[in-house]
Amino acid sequence: MMKIAMACDHGGFDYKEKLKSVLLKQGYEVTDYGCYSADSVDYPDMAYPCAKAVGNKEVDRGIVICGTGIGVSIVANKVEGVRCALVSDLFSAQATREHNDSNMLAMGGRVISEELMLEIAKVWLETPFSNDERHLRRIAKVTEIDHHR
Ligand code: RB5
Repeated sequence: MMKIAMACDHGGFDYKEKLKSVLLKQGYEVTDYGCYSADSVDYPDMAYPCAKAVGNKEVDRGIVICGTGIGVSIVANKVEGVRCALVSDLFSAQATREHNDSNMLAMGGRVISEELMLEIAKVWLETPFSNDERHLRRIAKVTEIDHHR
């Protein structure tokens, strides 16, 4: 079964807990990088180790949630090998898997409903990469940039 790393800050704590319990019930293996309560924390402290687990392939995918999803996505995209997509609609959830082969998903706990958050995660986790030549070419260019910074 797919291994998933998760992280959040206080702005995404409730959603992370909800999504984690749904994923565990579905049989996914989840590694939780915190936070572990709704107390105020600094999102890089959780998002960075979570993204490193994805970048070094300890896990297959990562899901990060903060208030807007922006802070955690900025952090995640600084880690080599990570392609983190900040998503708030179902079309993008599918498209970013098919086009970008995104390996991390960021969402905003203060932006979308809990129901939509669960739907986005489901679509994102279940949509395969298209493997289309044009998308492979574009991702290779992204990887090239990643290696040269
Ligand atoms: C925390 O108040 C908030 O800034 C954080 O959750 C996130 O939205 C940052 O991008």
